[in-house]
Amino acid sequence: MFESLSLAPPDPILGLTEAFKQDPRPDKINLSVGVYKDEHGRTPVLAAVKEAERRLVAGQESKTYLPIDGSPEYARLVRQMVFGDEHPLATDGRAVTLHTPGGTGGLRVAADFLKQKLSVNRIWISQPTWENHRGVFSAAGLEVAAYTYFDAAANRLDHGGLLSSLRQIPPHEAVCLHACCHNPSGIDPTPDQWREIAGVLAERQLVTLVDFAYQGLGDGLREDAAGVRELIAQLDELLIVSSFSKNFGLYNERAGALTLVAPTPQAAQAALSHAKICVRTNYSNPPSHGGAIVCTVLADPQLRADWERELQQMRDRINHMRALFAQTMKAQNAPRDFAFITQQRGMFSFSGLNPQHVQTLREQHGIYIVNSGRINVAGLRPANMTAVCNAIVATLGGG
Ligand code: LMR
Repeated sequence: MFESLSLAPPDPILGLTEAFKQDPRPDKINLSVGVYKDEHGRTPVLAAVKEAERRLVAGQESKTYLPIDGSPEYARLVRQMVFGDEHPLATDGRAVTLHTPGGTGGLRVAADFLKQKLSVNRIWISQPTWENHRGVFSAAGLEVAAYTYFDAAANRLDHGGLLSSLRQIPPHEAVCLHACCHNPSGIDPTPDQWREIAGVLAERQLVTLVDFAYQGLGDGLREDAAGVRELIAQLDELLIVSSFSKNFGLYNERAGALTLVAPTPQAAQAALSHAKICVRTNYSNPPSHGGAIVCTVLADPQLRADWERELQQMRDRINHMRALFAQTMKAQNAPRDFAFITQQRGMFSFSGLNPQHVQTLREQHGIYIVNSGRINVAGLRPANMTAVCNAIVATLGGG
């Protein structure tokens, strides 16, 4: 039967990295997958993570299974990070958290829970969104539709379009929102806009799923949770998926979480019991090491301070690259104004380049970006900035 299969298309993001690795050109540049690079082009293991690993290896006595939902300590620390230490939801039992294999694993558990346990049939994703949202949700059997998000002409949020799209969604359907650092556009609602969005979600009785993959990469851990705080002020049910791939640099450890917020502690426990069935019938229980690193760092004041400093360095470097990109494009007489890039947040920017430009950049200049025109700003550095900007200007026919 396998012989009846033809080759499937490569993944639109990870497939590019596979192609990049095959490219023999020495000066090739990979700005596709959302992986942070430092000014030397490395993706380092954070010092706080290294120290946590040292302690874990020294103290580890068993590799027995974790509980289906992971350790209670991890769950508690994740809630504190998402809601803030002082918020009642961090401790009052209305929120429960499952440790999942990365953010993608958390999204899949959330999607299975929506479909199998809440009988939700359709989920709405932003137009545009992370390439894999559609795939993960449809693999769980959800129908996927898109709501308006981005105003391409003005390079900003189409807030009016977003609200009117949401108002047309039938009650009890699901909506997936990005908590911060919108992937791929880098454009987030302001707290006032979040308040209005939350109002419409509540009024329309929509099931809200928040993808929180970049906490701390935008303006700060607390600042980046502003949207979540606006949502929980008006919604008493919510699904929040966290990822620690980017903010802890734990890409290959697959550390993530799904937090379910319910109106009462009893409802939260019932929801958790069902979500655990989704986990058990999928991957049984989570991998330990990445989550144990997150726990160790968050629970130790010194390690936590070290980690927050390293996170701030990553964030500052990305924001500096945004400014340098805009400046360099201007200095090279780019035929477009790229100042909007400095307003965007997180790892990504929507450059406005079309698939033809993307292909030219790849074929003629060895520069890899996602077909949508999304650039991984966290892969830019002073050493590759001129080459990238020259190539974009040449591709756009300016300079
Ligand atoms: C990305 O958008 O590049 C990252 O979230 C990595 C991935 O899994 O696609």
